[in-house]
Amino acid sequence: MHVRRPPRGVAGVESLKEKAGVSACGFVTDGMVVGLGTGSTVRYTIIELARRIRQEDLKVSGVPTSEDTRQLAEMLEIPLLEIQDAKNLDLTIDGADEFDSNFDLIKGGGGALTREKIVALASDAMVVVADDSKHVGTLGAFPLPVEVDEMTWESTRKGISALCPGEVSLRGGTDDPYVTDNCGHILDCSFGPTISDPAALEAKIRSIGGVVEAGLFVGICDAVVMASHGEVSTLVKSGGRLN
Ligand code: A5P
Repeated sequence: MHVRRPPRGVAGVESLKEKAGVSACGFVTDGMVVGLGTGSTVRYTIIELARRIRQEDLKVSGVPTSEDTRQLAEMLEIPLLEIQDAKNLDLTIDGADEFDSNFDLIKGGGGALTREKIVALASDAMVVVADDSKHVGTLGAFPLPVEVDEMTWESTRKGISALCPGEVSLRGGTDDPYVTDNCGHILDCSFGPTISDPAALEAKIRSIGGVVEAGLFVGICDAVVMASHGEVSTLVKSGGRLN
């Protein structure tokens, strides 16, 4: 029998995000340097981290992946380090726009993909926090965010369009383009409905002049803390860095 689930309201989705976000904070232990991701789900992890610092005297430093996250963490009085001052990051916790069963990701819906990738790659492990709507069989339905140089975005768009079967659109439009923390722009690229070889596509996109970073995170994520129908489950990648 096929059971139809009622659509989730905004409050339901928000409560799933909160559950996953709080649970993911359990990966943080005393003395860690933690990459702090960007987005509406990991926000709950950051709030929980601040609570643990206050109430449990947890000693941690955070490395923010965006100016939004920096502001939130500063407001919550989480000690922060710049990426260049952090000798070693033990862990990064971040959200995702899509994740597949290989733990590969599409990120950048919030525009912070470049610093998110720099921080994740500098970390000993990466944990993604998401509700189950982000879990896909194959990546690609979500338009792939690509950060590009602000001055030359039009020629970069031509280069990406030659690869991309769908639309390549400038986020925010030409009259008021979205500007990243690095003063770049974002092209949202409809490579879907599926991306058959994310690693190959990432390499091709990164070879185009003017591309700063692509929102494909391949082989970087080690675990996903996922909230689904009121339950939180932690999926750990076999052979990943958290085994
Ligand atoms: C930010 O640039 C993104 O990579 C986010 O991590 C991603 O968009 C997930 O955000 P939400 O948790 O808000 O869906």
